[in-house]
Amino acid sequence: MKIKIKSPANIAFIKYWGQRDKDLILPYNDSFSMNLSSCYTQLEVEYLFSKDYYLWIKNYQEKDYCQADKKLMEKIMKYYQKTKAFFSAKNDFGFRIYSQNSFPIKAGIASSASFYSALAVAFAYGFLKKLPNKKTLSILARLSGSGSACRSIPDGFSWWRKGKDSLSSYAYSIASPKFWDLVDMVLILNKKAKSIGSAEGHLLAETSPFFLNRIKEVKKRLKKIKKAFFEKNFDIFGQLLEEETLSMHMVMMTQKPPLYYLSGRTFEVMKKIVDFRSRKKKCYYTIDAGENIHLICLKKDKKEIYDYFINQKEIEGIIVNYPAEGTQIIK
Ligand code: PMV
Repeated sequence: MKIKIKSPANIAFIKYWGQRDKDLILPYNDSFSMNLSSCYTQLEVEYLFSKDYYLWIKNYQEKDYCQADKKLMEKIMKYYQKTKAFFSAKNDFGFRIYSQNSFPIKAGIASSASFYSALAVAFAYGFLKKLPNKKTLSILARLSGSGSACRSIPDGFSWWRKGKDSLSSYAYSIASPKFWDLVDMVLILNKKAKSIGSAEGHLLAETSPFFLNRIKEVKKRLKKIKKAFFEKNFDIFGQLLEEETLSMHMVMMTQKPPLYYLSGRTFEVMKKIVDFRSRKKKCYYTIDAGENIHLICLKKDKKEIYDYFINQKEIEGIIVNYPAEGTQIIK
């Protein structure tokens, strides 16, 4: 039996940083994101009767597949066992998976979210021979360790409710991809993989003296951004995106040891975004755990903004994204 799964990365408008339960991957706050149409992982999964486990990976702009290393395979097999226990399944299966990414990995573009949400579907299907509902899949994706993977499962714009316990912490769609014609241009400043991943970074979030303050202010920001989003008030929405980005990176840079995802180039481009919107068209930045910037604008302004930023010396390339569907079986 074979299936093909496609799952998007997502950009967090209000971000998840720090885990109140590090085994169950329970966050301190709700978070809110948009699925990305051009940044996704595609898995071709063949289920085997034998107990053989293969994972082949082809990264962005690479020609050939490479076999996953031992460390990744161990992580994946742990997740396989976790999934088996989650469904109280009695059966086992082997697999041969080919994974392809349409964008650079480990560069702050949520490659683990797209990969693990797709893998959650692959494993759920392997154990159950059918798909459970999206809520269950979202919980399972969260348990992969990449918590934000739970937001890639629902369609369009996702809200991850922090929940009271494991079964109440999941993401659901608050609006379809068609709701608002936002564009996310990923401005690629550096394609190289970062040295410290978010999984490691989350563990130390509480060591920042600004952490508790952030949790308090995020609560207020969540309310404000929801209102701005449903009213399609792009000015307020954009200001909140930037406030939120600075708040999370402030925590990252002041945790112990500090985590510096932003580079000199990132700051140069952030300033250019602020300057461009004061002179030309509205656009705002948001940045996850990496050097690369997500520029958010309205579709009607896309061309002018693209033409300006593609010519900036710091920018190696731009990936243009629209709001997208969540994880899907495509074959
Ligand atoms: O889900 P993780 O472990 O990849 O962490 C994601 C962390 C951020 O991207 C920085 C924020 C977010 O909410 O996506």
